[in-house]
Amino acid sequence: MITTTGLTKVYRSRGREVTALDGVDLHVREGEVYGVIGQSGAGKSSLIRCVNLLERPTSGTVTVAGQDLTALAGRGPRAGRELRQARSRIGMVFQHFNLLSSRTVRDNVELPLEILGVSGKERTRKALELLDLVGLADKAGSYPAQLSGGQKQRVGIARALAGDPKVLLSDEATSALDPETTRSILQLLRDLNRQLGLTVLLITHEMDVVKSICDSAALMEKGRIVESGTVSELLATPGSELAAALFPVSGEATGDDRTVVDVTFHGDAATQPVISQLSRTYNIDISILGAAMDTVGGKQVGRMRIELPGRYEDNVVPIGFLREQGLQIDIPGREQEPALLKEGAAK
Ligand SMILES: Nc1ncnc2c1ncn2[C@@H]1O[C@H](COP(=O)(O)OP(=O)(O)OP(=O)(O)O)[C@@H](O)[C@H]1O
Ligand SMILES: [Mg+2]
Repeated sequence: MITTTGLTKVYRSRGREVTALDGVDLHVREGEVYGVIGQSGAGKSSLIRCVNLLERPTSGTVTVAGQDLTALAGRGPRAGRELRQARSRIGMVFQHFNLLSSRTVRDNVELPLEILGVSGKERTRKALELLDLVGLADKAGSYPAQLSGGQKQRVGIARALAGDPKVLLSDEATSALDPETTRSILQLLRDLNRQLGLTVLLITHEMDVVKSICDSAALMEKGRIVESGTVSELLATPGSELAAALFPVSGEATGDDRTVVDVTFHGDAATQPVISQLSRTYNIDISILGAAMDTVGGKQVGRMRIELPGRYEDNVVPIGFLREQGLQIDIPGREQEPALLKEGAAK
């Protein structure tokens, strides 16, 4: 639904160049909620602004719903109108809502319809329908100043839906909201995604957002996507930074003669009592140093950091047992894990 290839954005100001995007290949499938995370300055906002061509990419292409927007932007005087039309099919939700304070809620939602040249009566009908959809039917005549942050964001979302978009872009839509309001706005985005088949690309710095509503996610660093995939693929990727950030576990070994093991559970494995099996089978005492469990996409997933008595070399067999149960095993601080395992097993 959204594809970028080799997307690059270089800002030039006062003789200085900043490469905000450095060859980004993004692929968002139709109907999914896709989260992009990354540190401040990683290029997330630049990416989203390039996707709807609010910002002109320096190079690369952007295709949304089969339409090459970069080509539209570059084709002379008519391009302006075509691009505007294409853009009206891409809804955008902002962190600070960007509502007009002098207009009522209904008039704010009608604004994009006015720009599209929709007649007065039809505009009002559509605006009221959208306000109903976001749960604000009773606030149509209010002014933004009379609304809470969560209600303002609902207006922002209704306005973004005015052009019947196929795609909704959201740049930190919940970061100005308290946790409870955040949850209700995320739920709304999820519902819209399901009810309308809307594809959602959202930028966030909150891992909880990714955990609660995203089907897929990408991690950006210095203008590049360094990891991407569905949330379950990421969890199944050994050493994935995103997976570790989604399910952070901590805890230090309690002594030198101990082995710390990170166990990632997904799907059915989560329900099997593997830890107690391990303990019984090898007659060892296992300490749990930390754990994070959650339900992602209806499946129970999680990580647990456990400690086994003895050094790594003494635990090759129990670790092999865990792997055989279909669990993903990471040994913190040990990069060349598989090779060492083979060597150990041969002894
Ligand atoms: N209009 C601009 N002119 C010059 N440099 C810019 C401009 N917009 C962004 N940048 C620079 O591009 C880089 C990426 O910025 P961007 O806003 O995309 O980051 P971000 O990931 O959204 O960060 P944040 O999490 O703080 O919102 C930064 O180094 C930033 O200073
Ligand atoms: Mg930003």
